[in-house]
Amino acid sequence: MLFNGLSEVGDDPILLVSTMFKASKDPNKVDLGVGVYKDAQGHTAILNSVKKAEQFLVENQETKTYLSPAGNPEFNALAQNMMLGEDHAAVKENRVSTFQTPGGTGGIRIGLEFVKACNANANIWISDPTWPNHTAITKALDLNPKQYRYYDIKRGEFLYQEMLEDLSAAQAGDVVILHGCCHNASGADLSHAQWNELADLMLDKGLVPFVDFAYQGFANGIEEDSYSARLIAKKLPEALIASSCSKNFAMYRDRAGAITLISPSADVHGTNKSHMLKAVRANYSMPPDHGAAVAAHILGNPDLKAEWMTEVDEMRNRVKKMRALFVEKMDKKAPNSGFGYIKEQNGMFSYLTLSAEQIQTLINDHSIFFMANGRVNMAGLTEANIDYVTDAIASLFKS
Ligand SMILES: Cc1ncc(COP(=O)(O)O)c(C=O)c1O
Repeated sequence: MLFNGLSEVGDDPILLVSTMFKASKDPNKVDLGVGVYKDAQGHTAILNSVKKAEQFLVENQETKTYLSPAGNPEFNALAQNMMLGEDHAAVKENRVSTFQTPGGTGGIRIGLEFVKACNANANIWISDPTWPNHTAITKALDLNPKQYRYYDIKRGEFLYQEMLEDLSAAQAGDVVILHGCCHNASGADLSHAQWNELADLMLDKGLVPFVDFAYQGFANGIEEDSYSARLIAKKLPEALIASSCSKNFAMYRDRAGAITLISPSADVHGTNKSHMLKAVRANYSMPPDHGAAVAAHILGNPDLKAEWMTEVDEMRNRVKKMRALFVEKMDKKAPNSGFGYIKEQNGMFSYLTLSAEQIQTLINDHSIFFMANGRVNMAGLTEANIDYVTDAIASLFKS
């Protein structure tokens, strides 16, 4: 029988954390696992700007006929603007196109399919550690994943020099996946000077950047966070950028995202576009409409856009506040526990520099659920649970 020979695939570790959290009967249980933003009440609410745009669509949308494989052209233009700005040189040179995709994940998939069309044996350099789907999609396409050192989980240290050293060994034409901001899972980002140095190295060695830009707005602001994407589009002749509306519009389940292709010249751009669209057609024909239509309505309407920007600021600032409060409380409750780095990091994720045993104690004895490798979602902290969490962590440091 065809369907008789498979062996079980283990559960996704992040889903395992969710299952354990749901199953726990401990009234104090805390979920620092799954990667979604939560507000001060621990809810993942729908943004007001999104609700208003949805209402507008209910009242005004006139058809649900098919989109094209490239998706909603208005969304594509606005999403591109949000990343690269209105008058980026590469855009003016007619060698940039943005295609709406089912989430950022769909963008990464289509981007890597395009890479495969260019070179079926391409090496894909992926940071160690990273979001596991980078490796999973690379392997699903039979491309060659390679790792570059990025972050020392146990010491809480960004390995910038090691990253440069490893990428110096890459070959011309190799693709490098970079987190545009809010590195998942370390929270450690490059400074502007480091982005510049890295861009020069990639240019010098003929490497092709693939920026995964899933958290625009969560580090320092929508505009500020676009530094990496704009710089790469300026300095490098060719690049891919996958972007997502899952986090910054809190539209996780609506699957709105994009892949942006930057070709070396306008001459080859049309042919390149045709290969992107071929990949779309063979995967899902065209992206779902709703999320991107909502994002396009918000980005195209100055009042709604201003309201949305304020909501993004609120989400970012709340996570920053929880990071600062966590460090302040740990400094008091367990001086020298060494969590100061958490305040400097960006986005929702950081690793706790704890041993495997200490992590299991927090999960098993205190019902604080997070990844077994130490990754926590700082957005899961609230004023109501932060004392419980920091007391539990501090207890690990008492002999
Ligand atoms: C680093 C990174 N890239 C891409 C994505 C994809 O996001 P989505 O497909 O939900 O838009 C995520 C989601 O968690 C992520 O963390």
